[in-house]
Amino acid sequence: MYLFAERLRRLHLETRLVRAGLVSDPRTGAISTPIYQTATFRHPGPEQSTGYDYSRTINPTREVLEKAMAELEGGARALACASGMAAIQLVSLLFAPGDHLVVSDDLYGGTYRFFQQVMVRYGLEIDYVDTTDIMAVERAVKATTGALFVETPTNPTMKVSDLRALASLARRFGLLLIVDNTFMTPYFQRPLELGADIVVHSATKYLGGHHDLVAGMVVTASPELGQRLADLHNCVGSILGPQDCWLLLRGLKTLAVRLAKSQENAAALAGWLHGHPRVQRVYYPGLESHPGHRLHFRQASGAGSVISFQVDDPGLVPRIISRLKMISYAESLGGVESLITYPATQTHGDLPEEVRERLGITSTLLRLAVGIENVADLIADLEQAMAGSEIGS
Ligand SMILES: Cc1ncc(COP(=O)(O)O)c(C=O)c1O
Repeated sequence: MYLFAERLRRLHLETRLVRAGLVSDPRTGAISTPIYQTATFRHPGPEQSTGYDYSRTINPTREVLEKAMAELEGGARALACASGMAAIQLVSLLFAPGDHLVVSDDLYGGTYRFFQQVMVRYGLEIDYVDTTDIMAVERAVKATTGALFVETPTNPTMKVSDLRALASLARRFGLLLIVDNTFMTPYFQRPLELGADIVVHSATKYLGGHHDLVAGMVVTASPELGQRLADLHNCVGSILGPQDCWLLLRGLKTLAVRLAKSQENAAALAGWLHGHPRVQRVYYPGLESHPGHRLHFRQASGAGSVISFQVDDPGLVPRIISRLKMISYAESLGGVESLITYPATQTHGDLPEEVRERLGITSTLLRLAVGIENVADLIADLEQAMAGSEIGS
């Protein structure tokens, strides 16, 4: 029924993205995957099943998306979840009270909030560690450690962790390596091929790509882990509905062209920001001055299109935000429209202030999620928003 087998693996990624779900309906030959908007399925007879019994367990539209994502990440099994946080929650259910996790200290604020406000209450012990420092990660591992959970590059200061080194450390200590691949997507980085066990995504971002849905994905390297998570997915019910699965399948088809364009824009904008007199620091792994630049390009094929930058005065932040005409002041990233975020009060508002300061998520840090507009228009918008704001003005 599907073309997700070996034959598909031999095609280039751009082609495989476009073909996601293309031959999912042999009966009609529909080019677009049908949306099976049904909760349940009629059984042909007593003790008989079509293979589809109830949509929490399996739904044909979700199945096409899950097979496509497993194939794209180079994994065995994928599960489509109601949000990125639902995907992270699902993976966290693998652990029991008393288990210990080593987590990147610089990561999406909502993930930190979830671990601290929810999983700690359920008895997990979490240590936040600079996962760019492999020795620090090793020092943090103890007898009860069950997994390493990392983002690379991190949100928002774009720190890069060595996935191959973390995978070999995880293997040595019998831990799972879980990677949040939201910023890179399988187009730029495939952590399972570098030795990770599980990849999670906020599919709300690049995979969807249009700021019009909230979704999450989990992909596992092994079928066994995939089955354990599929059972949990069915138990807790954090599934993605068929309409949103369809939107995500549609988003995947243009992932390569969207990312190529937004990355090209981001590279130009990062260079422009780097030379701006009011900008003190630019965090973008595509810049050679970025401390993780070389490592990043050993494990990923692109730098993506999120740029964080520090201006020289906190007073400038509200002025830039209110003067921007085209770039929207909104949380999220990865869509075709460019957005600007103030991490200290938005995405990372739930981190304690001293932690934010230590990580560089200061009152002068802005995060730009670059879209696919014409780059000259983006630069012009930022230029006019930052103009007339010389020091002291
Ligand atoms: C890196 C990362 N992981 C996970 C999430 C959570 O995803 P969602 O908002 O889809 O629940 C986000 C959201 O911004 C994110 O940036």
